[in-house]
Amino acid sequence: MTADQVASLPAALGGTPAFPQGLPLTVVRVPDREGLLKRLGTVLDSGRLTNGPTVAELEETAAKLLQVEHVVAVSNCTAGLMLVLQAAGVGAGRPVVMPGFTFSATAHAAHWAGGVPLFAEALEENVTLDPEDAAARLAAADSPAALMATHVYGTPCRVERLQEVADAAGVPLVYDAAHGLGSSRAGVPVGGFGLAEVFSMSPTKVAVAGEGGLVATRDGALAETLRCARDYGNPGDYDTLFPGLNARMSELHAAVALTWLAGLEERVAHRGALAREFTSAVAGLPGLRTAQPDEGDISTFKDLTLILDADRFGLTALELGRALKAEGVDTRRYFHPPVHRQRAYAGLGQAEALPRTDRLADSVLTVPLWTQMDAATVRRTAEAVVRIHACAERLRLQGV
Ligand SMILES: Cc1ncc(COP(=O)(O)O)c(C=O)c1O
Repeated sequence: MTADQVASLPAALGGTPAFPQGLPLTVVRVPDREGLLKRLGTVLDSGRLTNGPTVAELEETAAKLLQVEHVVAVSNCTAGLMLVLQAAGVGAGRPVVMPGFTFSATAHAAHWAGGVPLFAEALEENVTLDPEDAAARLAAADSPAALMATHVYGTPCRVERLQEVADAAGVPLVYDAAHGLGSSRAGVPVGGFGLAEVFSMSPTKVAVAGEGGLVATRDGALAETLRCARDYGNPGDYDTLFPGLNARMSELHAAVALTWLAGLEERVAHRGALAREFTSAVAGLPGLRTAQPDEGDISTFKDLTLILDADRFGLTALELGRALKAEGVDTRRYFHPPVHRQRAYAGLGQAEALPRTDRLADSVLTVPLWTQMDAATVRRTAEAVVRIHACAERLRLQGV
């Protein structure tokens, strides 16, 4: 075998790894370190580490960016979702229709608010909640309390139809927008759809607080309730109105979060360009596509996820993940197992309820993408996928 031939072999077959030092799934680098240190200094000097002006500034800045009337900062997206669902009247064991193809926190939030997840199918094309399947499950449910949908990977949901479905069923529509800070649907920022949209600012997201969340809503009464709810349900006199949480965001986290909001649009555009770079480098490989937003929509590409047809590609998502590991490339399977298959929800008896989502979950593999990544790194990852595909049969025979 010549040196050239060895060089073109995947690492799993003895070739040189594409990333000998390893390529992590995400890397978090604060965009304006100097600015952040200054802000943190101001917070520390103020002696006020919570309930202060930095959180208020973050809320105002985010509300402008998202073009909504109200933003309430919270300690994380999960707590934000719990409080929105509580405020929306979820409870007493009533069903909350939601996708099975989402992160577990969507379902956990409904559970902690007193509801019971009722899982519905994902659309094959853009992998968000299928509005027609959700409508059918709402219609069959006994007194449903809410509809939840997730902007998976930052891909905006089909919000117009979902709103019609929620209205027809007479339930509030709440978005898990954990991945969607910077996404837009037909030119309208994600943030203003449904009753409320809840963003995450945890470290794997496109804008980061360390840990944190933002609830965006057009509903003033809801925003007021949430401000009380994130503070134990305390209206200010310690005579709590309802059982709330401590879900406050600290001033320090708000300072970090503010650093990421400046320039968000440019960073999201860069991520989109990186995703296009990858997609064009693997174009033509049979049985491989990437999760993409609908025409005219903008995704944050919080994740760059490959969707494989194993018969046509020659390897399953699991096998491709193992071959990429040999190349030094870190991968995840967002979302496998899907939530309706997870042990936490085995008791609901819905494990067999979503065959389309099961097929989708079996076929996904998320590859590295972060904001400061350059096009050459994305191309090198894509070239590793091309090399692996070229040797798919040998890899399979060797039991990659
Ligand atoms: C879709 C989705 N919803 C909710 C969450 C939870 O967010 P947080 O960690 O801010 O509570 C995540 C976290 O990754 C997520 O991916």
